Amino acid sequence: MYEQVSHSLLNEILLALNPEIIKQNNMRYFYTRLGANFYSIYSLFHHLYGERHDFEKYMQRLVEVMARQYIARPSTLKKIDLERENDHNWFLSQRWVGMALYSDGFAGNLNALNDKLFYLQELGVNMVHVMPILDCPRGRSDGGYAVRDFRKVDERIGSNADIKRLANSMHKREMLLTLDVVVNHTSEEHDWARRACNGDQDYQDYYYIFENRDMPDMFEETMPEIFPENSPGNFTWNEQMGRWVMTCFNHYQWDLNYSNPAVFIEMLDILFYWANQGADILRLDAVAFLWKKIGSTCQNEREAHLILQLMKDCCQVTAPGVLFIAEAIVAPTEVAKYFGEDAIIAKECEIAYNTTLMALLWDAVATKKTTLLNRGIAFLPDKLDRATWLNYIRCHDDIGLGFDDRDIVYCGYDPVAHRHFLVDYFTGHFDGSSARGLPFAQNEKTGDARISGTLASLVGLQAALENGDEQAVNDAVKSILLLHAVILSFGGIPLLYYGDEIGTLNDYSYEQDEYKNSDSRWVHRPSIDWEKADLRHQSGSVEHAIFSGLKKLIAVRKEISAFADFNTRELIDTDNPHLLAYSQFDYQKAASKVLVVANFENTPQHFDMQVLRRHGLFQSGNIRDLCTGESPHIFHDKMVVPALGFYWLAE
Ligand code: GLC
Ligand code: GLC
Repeated sequence: MYEQVSHSLLNEILLALNPEIIKQNNMRYFYTRLGANFYSIYSLFHHLYGERHDFEKYMQRLVEVMARQYIARPSTLKKIDLERENDHNWFLSQRWVGMALYSDGFAGNLNALNDKLFYLQELGVNMVHVMPILDCPRGRSDGGYAVRDFRKVDERIGSNADIKRLANSMHKREMLLTLDVVVNHTSEEHDWARRACNGDQDYQDYYYIFENRDMPDMFEETMPEIFPENSPGNFTWNEQMGRWVMTCFNHYQWDLNYSNPAVFIEMLDILFYWANQGADILRLDAVAFLWKKIGSTCQNEREAHLILQLMKDCCQVTAPGVLFIAEAIVAPTEVAKYFGEDAIIAKECEIAYNTTLMALLWDAVATKKTTLLNRGIAFLPDKLDRATWLNYIRCHDDIGLGFDDRDIVYCGYDPVAHRHFLVDYFTGHFDGSSARGLPFAQNEKTGDARISGTLASLVGLQAALENGDEQAVNDAVKSILLLHAVILSFGGIPLLYYGDEIGTLNDYSYEQDEYKNSDSRWVHRPSIDWEKADLRHQSGSVEHAIFSGLKKLIAVRKEISAFADFNTRELIDTDNPHLLAYSQFDYQKAASKVLVVANFENTPQHFDMQVLRRHGLFQSGNIRDLCTGESPHIFHDKMVVPALGFYWLAE
């Protein structure tokens, strides 16, 4: 039924579009893509909003937005769209290496970032997530995620022209630009929120606004708290309206109401706006939260997935070269669904944060054991075709301990006690721990907590330097390289976090800032010390050891086609609880296998060569590490993996 309705409606809609505009522009590709995707777009839009009497009006508006933004799309970007359509697996290649950074923290502002692109190129980074750049109220910004104007760059870091310039100069350097679109909420100072405050019903419908506590109380029965310390509860009283507003994150971040098609269309228009400014990839923030339902956690609802599918289908029409990243920090079984459920090819976001791997790696750092890591990886769902993970160690957010409780139990730990141990370990409260993390979002009601801190401070570099303990400094450097060796070889796009490449320590200056001091995530959002960064060229320095080590790993990664992301990873049981091992092969040349072995213990470990033979790996026994070119020591038919060391082995 849909198919017939959608075809005649499509014709009607196309006829109603402004004929002059259409005549003046070459719309051939637009029509072809719209025709190909319209059935799906119509069905999804109808599924979400079909009950409304004004459904057709919105359907018309949706197509208009797609057409208008297609017309506005610069021809250079349209050309890239075509190239990417023809080479649709382009982003699965091992040649992409990402970094997330704040333009102000990294360089000062957008223009200064432009001048520092050489530094990223020196390291080998060619995909840059420039953290939120948009106008936010001072002091109530949530690090850029409480947006006041979705189309205006924050004047402290530059202008809209600067971001265009940056995009151009990145494209010339064959670097990809990733920008955020905060799809789930706005600042309380956004124009829509202001209008709502002034009593405009149309704009009150953009949010979840309630006259009394009846509905909020029902919601609260099942909704968790995201920021229990700073922003307990999920609703905020607004004095001006005399009403309650849903605010899942901070009190000043108002959740958008996607059961209103006007909201969907506005946000789609904003996605296209940034796509047209030259963003190759859009990071969609907090996507798990897009649909709210009483009696649920209000995360991972089916409609949230439908909204993302609809956004993707519309993007395939207007800006098909642009990819989406899902930021869904949710349970392992839920994360993979943001590629699209029961699909073969990604149909929501092509890229998702591998938050499961991230948390598991930290478990291995604390326990020095890989039991939970192995278990978690074994159960990591396969990604879909034309989809890939963002593998990361640190980012601008906290480390949440979102493992599957059953896996923790399987590994012989008690889930509550084990999470307590991890928080104690990383905040340095556990005997023998040299980590210098801070607790984040402690929830007294549930006992939960998360962890802040830079990579270097969490793996003990800060403590080691304070104590002048050279051995410990070396171990910390090794841990930093070890963790990167995993994310660079795991399959997916590795995403480094700025500052980690030179061992940046915690920055406590946020404690002096009244707007920041209650949010410990600021401890790991540093300003780069460029004098320290210069030490990367001075052999013998910590900065040199880390930077040059990473640079080498990145360069080697780019040469290893087996590291492209085609679901070729095979986990290998090493019989040694301190080792992680997996093989990867090039799906086009199955013979060229690479074995990754990583040792999380600070003593050398043994790996039985029989295990390799059992897996049919390296029958010749003649193996060498692709990074150093050297062969590992084999003693009594056991390979020795150095303390906190790793290998990328090939025949
Ligand atoms: C995302 C961001 C985080 C922010 C939250 C609310 O999860 O990564 O920094 O606090 O959204 O916008
Ligand atoms: C929660 C949210 C995630 C956000 C984080 C910020 O984990 O699910 O979206 O990044 O909080 O701390």
